[in-house]
Amino acid sequence: MTIKLDYVNTVPFVSDQEINDVLIRHHELLRTVLAPDHDNSNDLGWVDLTSLANDRLLESIEKKAREIRERGDIFVLIGVGGSNQGARAVIKSLGDQQIEILYVGNNLSPRYLQTIMAKLAGKSVYVNIIAKNFATLEPGITFRVLRQYLEERYGREEAAQRIIATGSLNGSSLEELGKKKGYTLMPFPLDVGGRYSVLSAVGLLPIAIAGVEIHELLRGAKDIKQVIHSQSPEKNDAVIYAVIRNILLAKGYRLEILAHFEPALAYFAKWWVQLFGETEGKEGKGLYPTSCSFTEDLHSLGQYIQEGQRLLLETFINLEDQGETFRIPVEDTDIDGFNYLNNLDFAYLNKNAYEATVQAHVDGGVPCFIVNVPELTPYYMGQLLYFFEYACYLSASLLGVNPFNQPGVEAYKEKMFAKLKG
Ligand code: PA5
Repeated sequence: MTIKLDYVNTVPFVSDQEINDVLIRHHELLRTVLAPDHDNSNDLGWVDLTSLANDRLLESIEKKAREIRERGDIFVLIGVGGSNQGARAVIKSLGDQQIEILYVGNNLSPRYLQTIMAKLAGKSVYVNIIAKNFATLEPGITFRVLRQYLEERYGREEAAQRIIATGSLNGSSLEELGKKKGYTLMPFPLDVGGRYSVLSAVGLLPIAIAGVEIHELLRGAKDIKQVIHSQSPEKNDAVIYAVIRNILLAKGYRLEILAHFEPALAYFAKWWVQLFGETEGKEGKGLYPTSCSFTEDLHSLGQYIQEGQRLLLETFINLEDQGETFRIPVEDTDIDGFNYLNNLDFAYLNKNAYEATVQAHVDGGVPCFIVNVPELTPYYMGQLLYFFEYACYLSASLLGVNPFNQPGVEAYKEKMFAKLKG
């Protein structure tokens, strides 16, 4: 089974004719994009799932993960943007609680760092710094704090055994530091950008440390890849999704909400927001990606989605099997008026809330995609990750922007570094 896109609720807003026109106009581009030619000199390393995580690399990831799960109480993941979002998305959705995972190097707040450092006392701590070029301030400076802490606490030799550095192994300063200090080095593939890196060592090591079955994640990604690359454009979910969202953008829609009814997917939604935001938001183009966790956000943004400016589209993640049950207790009296729900399940309530929300939003003028996901497992998570990476790449290509750069991110950095360096 695979995840499936249902776009029936975009039909009132986008006609078959409009979809066909785009497919015909971009026939050549789609042909090239659907058979991506990865040759190590471009940024398409993430489509080559086997090279991204070959057997030797997977073995070393699993060995390290086992060691850390056995000996560690806390695993500190240092990284920002694409360097931590993918791992965090999967871990928060599917990870177990055997080892506590803390995320740092993704902000500059002294309060946040104090809180994290206070948690480390008396615990067995391992650290993974992830930085493609090791030039980003947030992870770079936070790693300085963490490595000094480990060295003071454990001595240099043991500290080195507790640090994994994931970076470009092409002479980057992180590689140089790692070699000098004796850290375990993991490759950040040179032909993969941060937001497309989750299925490489960048994401897989932390994910394995959280107890998630990484072979299943990769199996899911490979299966959906096979489907995407073998389907003709008009029957291809990734193509149809990319085409319709581009048509809606051209019609004046400005925002896309990734909506879900499972709080465990909140960080997956953050990963999705980053993927689409950094990939498409350039040259004055792109849908603004944002997310909602329902039903909670139905009691805040739900009002705007239903009746505010008509510039939104929504993409719902529908977990067909919610994986858990929780029965509603029976009560003799019906003072709260909920006896009609006696003995039913929360999963049933959630499903009904989801169906009602889609109906209401479509009636309110919001085009809605649904991505049907059989269940929340590593296998289907792998499918979701690759599906959205691929659809995003495709959508940016149709939009006419470079999917793999992020020139705008440099603007604040230049000004900040100018201030800091006086
Ligand atoms: O997706 C991207 O390329 C970015 O979000 C980067 O991952 C982010 O800026 C962090 O970069 P680095 O790993 O070099 O610190």
